[in-house]
Amino acid sequence: MGQKSIEILKQTSINIEELVEKLQKAYADECLSYIQYWEGARFPVGLMRSKLSEEMQEHAEEELKHANWLAKRIIDFGVMPIVGPHEWLKRSNCGYQEPLDSDIMTLLEQNISSERCAIEVYKQLADFTRGKDDITYKLVIKILEEEVEHEQDLEDIRNDIERG
Ligand SMILES: [Fe+2]
Ligand SMILES: [Fe+2]
Repeated sequence: MGQKSIEILKQTSINIEELVEKLQKAYADECLSYIQYWEGARFPVGLMRSKLSEEMQEHAEEELKHANWLAKRIIDFGVMPIVGPHEWLKRSNCGYQEPLDSDIMTLLEQNISSERCAIEVYKQLADFTRGKDDITYKLVIKILEEEVEHEQDLEDIRNDIERG
């Protein structure tokens, strides 16, 4: 980040260290979320299996994209994004739910709860940056919109199954 951008941020009341830590934790969530979808997409068993598998693959790609956006923003602050799954797990907000059970309803419930956690995280990041760091704010709103869509996609599939 250039000198002027840093100057502008320092004029606001935002705590840059705290902001970077929040971005790091969200980054860890995205890396784990990517893997959770990527692993889960391989073996859903049950009604609407291929629909869910397709949806999970799409979500996986979007979580990876979010991770890349966050990594870029963290690097803007001159900080290295968290390296490796051990650290991601330790510092994430939402953790990792192993897709050990290939039953479609279990996979849906796991990922719906992860999406709800992500929505909370980005809502808090939006509140933290609003009116202070416009670039991060815009980024987290863009991600938040996609997490909201993810939750809806999964809830729609669950509702279709429940209605038979
Ligand atoms: Fe995401
Ligand atoms: Fe998501």
